[in-house]
Amino acid sequence: MNYIHMEYFEELLKRESLFKDESKLDINYIPNELPHRDKELSLLSQLFLGLITNPNSISRKILVTGKTGIGKTVTVKLFGKILENVSRKRSINIKYAHVNCRKERTSYKVLIKLIQSLDTRFPKRGYSSQDLLDVLIEFLHLYDIHILVVLDELSYLINKHEDLIYSLTRINDDNLKCDQRLSIIGIVRDLSCLNNLDNSTMSTLQRNILEFKKYSDGQIFNILKYRADDSLKKNVLSDKMIKMISEITSSSGDVRHGLNVIWRSCKIAESKNLKYINAECVRLGNQDLLHYSTLDVLEYMNSQKLSFLLAIIKALNNHDNIKISFNDALKRYYMICENIGLKPRSNSQLWNYLQEFKRENLLETKIVSEKIKGRRAIIAIPDLSLPNLERNTIEMLNSKGFKI
Ligand SMILES: Nc1ncnc2c1ncn2[C@@H]1O[C@H](COP(=O)(O)OP(=O)(O)OP(=O)(O)O)[C@@H](O)[C@H]1O
Ligand SMILES: [Mg+2]
Repeated sequence: MNYIHMEYFEELLKRESLFKDESKLDINYIPNELPHRDKELSLLSQLFLGLITNPNSISRKILVTGKTGIGKTVTVKLFGKILENVSRKRSINIKYAHVNCRKERTSYKVLIKLIQSLDTRFPKRGYSSQDLLDVLIEFLHLYDIHILVVLDELSYLINKHEDLIYSLTRINDDNLKCDQRLSIIGIVRDLSCLNNLDNSTMSTLQRNILEFKKYSDGQIFNILKYRADDSLKKNVLSDKMIKMISEITSSSGDVRHGLNVIWRSCKIAESKNLKYINAECVRLGNQDLLHYSTLDVLEYMNSQKLSFLLAIIKALNNHDNIKISFNDALKRYYMICENIGLKPRSNSQLWNYLQEFKRENLLETKIVSEKIKGRRAIIAIPDLSLPNLERNTIEMLNSKGFKI
């Protein structure tokens, strides 16, 4: 037995972590409190109070909107938890079902998710969307439940001309007993996507818009302080350092970025054997950090879309230019496809990818001509660091088995 090795291991085990609970910095963790979102939580409670005072006799349809990373999802999720708890205490069956439409991209998938939230054994295949709507109605009656459906990142569903909201609304109307068993909260960053909706759906939703405002610098400080107190040991992150991280976060206003910097700088402090996080750790923690939302977007991309994105990045790099044309991107794309043995997609598919990139906040485009034959767009990536984006895109392609 080699004792030297054992000692080394012991040394590592003895080293104390600077985290109290690392999982509380996870982007999807729902904290017990949400500083500066009291007003929104209280408004939601008022709007949905009727579900508790008059069970199954009213239905609400609300739209939550606001910029990225300002607590829309987490506030609605916490509200869902509160609503379920309060109703359980009064023996009223309210089920909260949160669906992310970026992950469940068709009405079919969303409906399956909703039904499975009521009955986990329900099979994934073998039904039509209409069947699924009927099953949903049947289950709501059978289990005597009112379901609060949250359609998060709703724009991903609307853009495909799906009329899920319309169909879901019909569940209440078609009901012979006039029971109201379904409410909806839609979450979108930007209201412009609503133009594709059915007129009556749009006017219902437009009457009930809850707009989340961006946090002020001081509010970001308070939020990050609360999250750091919750997850790190005492005195690991001083107010001065929190101030530094809030300033970094302020430019985008996306709280995810701040949480990510806290986590990374704490890991760096640990690796340096420090007892607390200093400015150098924060600087290093912020370096090379793509926004969490950007990484999240890359993670859900297929290899075709990733290759086209890489083509755009490379064309921008090559021209050492701020802007390129759709054609410049195409040329690069064909080269990449040939190199990695990928069958190129059609121009109109690539055009769709371009629109999706825009919606995903990766780039900006300016359309010069919309005609199918002479489609022209000017493309720029003003907000992201190109080398970082390129590195992450290549890594993602590598992880899918493509050698770049
Ligand atoms: N008031 C707050 N208190 C504590 N944490 C917060 C608060 N607001 C946001 N956060 C945290 O910031 C992160 C981003 O919030 P959230 O995911 O709700 O953003 P969003 O508005 O839904 O953004 P997007 O439009 O990109 O989906 C989450 O990890 C969330 O827990
Ligand atoms: Mg969200």
